Amino acid sequence: MKAIVCTRYGPPEVLQLKEVEKPSPKDKEVLIRVHATTVTSGDVWIRSSTFSPWFFIPGRIMYGIRKPRKTIPGNELAGEIESVGKDVQQFKKGDQIFGIFWGTSFGGAYAEYKCLPENAVAIKPANMTYEEAAAVPIGGLTALYLLRKGNIQSGQQVLIFGASGRVGTFAVQLAKHFGAEVTGVCSTTNVDMAKSLGADNVIDYKEEDFTKSGKTYDIIFDAVRKTSFLRCRSSLKQRGIFITVDWPLMTALWTSIVSNKKVVFGIANRIEDLAFLRELIEAGKLRSIIDRRYPLEQAAEAHRYVEKGHKKGNVVLTVDHDGKTNGKNEFR
Ligand SMILES: NC(=O)c1ccc[n+]([C@@H]2O[C@H](COP(=O)([O-])OP(=O)(O)OC[C@H]3O[C@@H](n4cnc5c(N)ncnc54)[C@H](OP(=O)(O)O)[C@@H]3O)[C@@H](O)[C@H]2O)c1
Repeated sequence: MKAIVCTRYGPPEVLQLKEVEKPSPKDKEVLIRVHATTVTSGDVWIRSSTFSPWFFIPGRIMYGIRKPRKTIPGNELAGEIESVGKDVQQFKKGDQIFGIFWGTSFGGAYAEYKCLPENAVAIKPANMTYEEAAAVPIGGLTALYLLRKGNIQSGQQVLIFGASGRVGTFAVQLAKHFGAEVTGVCSTTNVDMAKSLGADNVIDYKEEDFTKSGKTYDIIFDAVRKTSFLRCRSSLKQRGIFITVDWPLMTALWTSIVSNKKVVFGIANRIEDLAFLRELIEAGKLRSIIDRRYPLEQAAEAHRYVEKGHKKGNVVLTVDHDGKTNGKNEFR
């Protein structure tokens, strides 16, 4: 099968299209004919090995000291089940699924086929294309997990910083679903998109610094790792909660000792929540935003775009099987 392989850390050109062995499912795995996967800031981060100084050594230990230990990127996908292992109970050949690779390495989805444990996939929302569905798992599960961990309540005032990113676009919609009054923060070009996702108010960070307005929030969710608890704390109400996609261990610990405000972070870990997201999607309450689509062969080009740090929602790779694709395959 064809796959995009990354055998060393470096610029996007290290991503090469190669013929590799087609995987076979283990007893509890399904073999998926991949139709779409995503290019995320996480993929770019591992490929380029631009780990921050404090994370450089742990990063290289986690992902591979001299070169990536696992060579095929891609941690979420949508596709069709081609075959199942002998102990698989919930899925059968032909099921249309979306799924996630849980792990701290490249997940192997930039390929024609990928095996995943049956407990890492769920039936795809019926009203989504493969491309739209592939863009749901990481962003949707992360936003849901962190909003729940921050104990979001109906009627709360919630600010989503980075409302235009992968996690942020889901966070805006989910916070609205939970009944919050949502303020999205993004740049000028994304104001209309944030409103279309349901944000009640939108602040253009190029025009206004929300921390200077004097307004306070029950929850501030940094969905793009571009602000910090220290910058936001005076904009939090008493007992307010700062949620972040970052890992501010020391800040969280210190805050829990000296403040009545709280810092919340972590990694989503419940695949059952994919079914919850599917229900919202099928009820028309949640959608994925796709900025650009590239064929698998143009993975390096897609990385170049994502690396700029300004994608809207998601960038998708579509996988062509024998000259046929499911869903649109045009670059736009
Ligand atoms: N904890 C976890 O489990 C977890 C899970 C997923 C992701 N993450 C991390 O979360 C971070 C965000 O990931 P993502 O994929 O959601 O992001 P992303 O989609 O790559 O973020 C892109 C967005 O960031 C916005 N942005 C760029 N600079 C900004 C700034 N200075 N202020 C406000 N917005 C800005 C851009 O909007 P503009 O063009 O408007 O600037 C763009 O829409 C990454 O660091 C990723 O590693 C963590």
